Formats: sequence, C-alpha cells, structure tokens
Amino acid sequence: MTNNNIYFIANWKMYGNPASLNTINNVIKLTKSKKFSKIKIVYCPPYTLLGNFVKKTKKSKIFVGAQNCHYESEYGAYTGSINAKMIKYLGAKFVIVGHSETRKQGDTNNEINMKIKSALKSNLRIIFCIGESLYEKRKKKTKTVLLKQIKIGLKKIKNLQNLILAYEPLWSIGTGIVPKNIDLEKNINFIRKNLNKLKNGNRIKIIYGGSVNPNNVKNLSRIPGISGFIVGGASLNSKKFIDIIKKSII
Ligand code: 13P
Repeated sequence: MTNNNIYFIANWKMYGNPASLNTINNVIKLTKSKKFSKIKIVYCPPYTLLGNFVKKTKKSKIFVGAQNCHYESEYGAYTGSINAKMIKYLGAKFVIVGHSETRKQGDTNNEINMKIKSALKSNLRIIFCIGESLYEKRKKKTKTVLLKQIKIGLKKIKNLQNLILAYEPLWSIGTGIVPKNIDLEKNINFIRKNLNKLKNGNRIKIIYGGSVNPNNVKNLSRIPGISGFIVGGASLNSKKFIDIIKKSII
C-alpha cells in the first residue's frame, strides 16, 4: 500500500486506563515524520478515555473515535448509553458502528442503520463493520450475510463519503487466524462491487480487521482494494502498532 490516506484504526475495546495514554507517545512522534504524513490514525479507546485521548492528541494528526453509539440522536432516557452528539461534543471525530462484539450484544442491522444515520447527523465519520461468522462461512453463506449487512446497514443513507467499511470476519477476530489472501481478495471485491452500486459508494474505503499483527500485515497489505486496517489486540502495544504501520507502507 502507498501511504496515501491509509487508515490505521486502533480499537482498544474494553482495555486501558488514564496511565495507558502515555504509551501512545511514540505513535504521535511517528505522525510527525514526513514519510507517514499522509496516513490516518484513529484511536478508539473506551468511552471513559475519549476525553483524555482528545486532549492528548490535540496537537497531533491523530484522530479519536468511539467504539459505539446509541441510535437515538437526541438526548433521552437511555440509562448507560451514549449518543453520537455526546461523542462529537467531546471532540471525537469517528465512531465504530456494527462491530461484531456489539452485534453480539443485540445490535440488529436495522439498529446499525439508525446508528449510522444518527452519527452522520452529528457529523461523525463512521467505521462500519461487517463480517461473517465461522458457521456462516462453513455454510457458504458469506456473501449472503455480507450483502444483507451492507444493504440494511446503509439503507437510505446518502452521504456515504463519510464512511469507511471494515471487513472483519468473526472467526479471525482475536484468534490469530487470518483469511488466505485469495479468499480475502474475493470478499473485498464482492464488497467493492456492491458498494459501487450505491450512489457515491465508490467513495467508501474498505479496510480489513481480524488478528492483524506485525508478522502478517505485509502480506495482507498486498491485497488490492484494502485501504488500511482495524487493529484490536496489537494496537494496545505501541511498538507493535508502529510496526504494523511501517510494514504496511511499501
Ligand atoms: P484483533 O486484532 O484483536 O483480532 O481484533 C480485531 C478487531 O476486532 C478490531 O475491531
């Protein structure tokens, strides 16, 4: 991959405390180097650290995003929830929507569609996650599942240029297993073809997620059509995250 507008999303999931912020100092330093001036790094810490991250990265080129949001765009009686407006208010610019770990907690494709609409209303950029489970893959349902997630997730959404689509096969998340390049390329092409059918769908960048690490990223970045990575476990370790970034830029 060339370094033009390549995305590296660090999804910290339910990890991190205020002290962890210092671990990103070297990543901030990296973004100051000319060689990496065009890459886009987005840190998605848990809600509790969003404000700290915004402050910490203020003078850098790093963006901050939340890992989820409620579908209701206005304030309301939803105990325990955070909406896009609140995320925007904190200074974050991105939000992950439809991650398999939040789908597992009950998010439906329709709710994901509502979340995307409400995030767009708040002017957030969206990292929209899709992916098939191992069971669905074995049943040869991958395409059907991906298509349904795309169709319902993006239903009646016009400003698609503010979206990044993250393809994360569930069986690859946290398992150390990544798809073979040939299979991944096929699925990326399938996603691309279907996104291109939507108005401005060609503006959506596609990134890959699932067990990305410094050892496999070089190979993964050879796949045409991939514009970056969403990294879970390895993003918690700045040395590994930096290695991933360096190894994916050819
Ligand atoms: P891992 O990189 O830990 O497999 O997680 C991937 C992921 O879920 C990123 O959103």
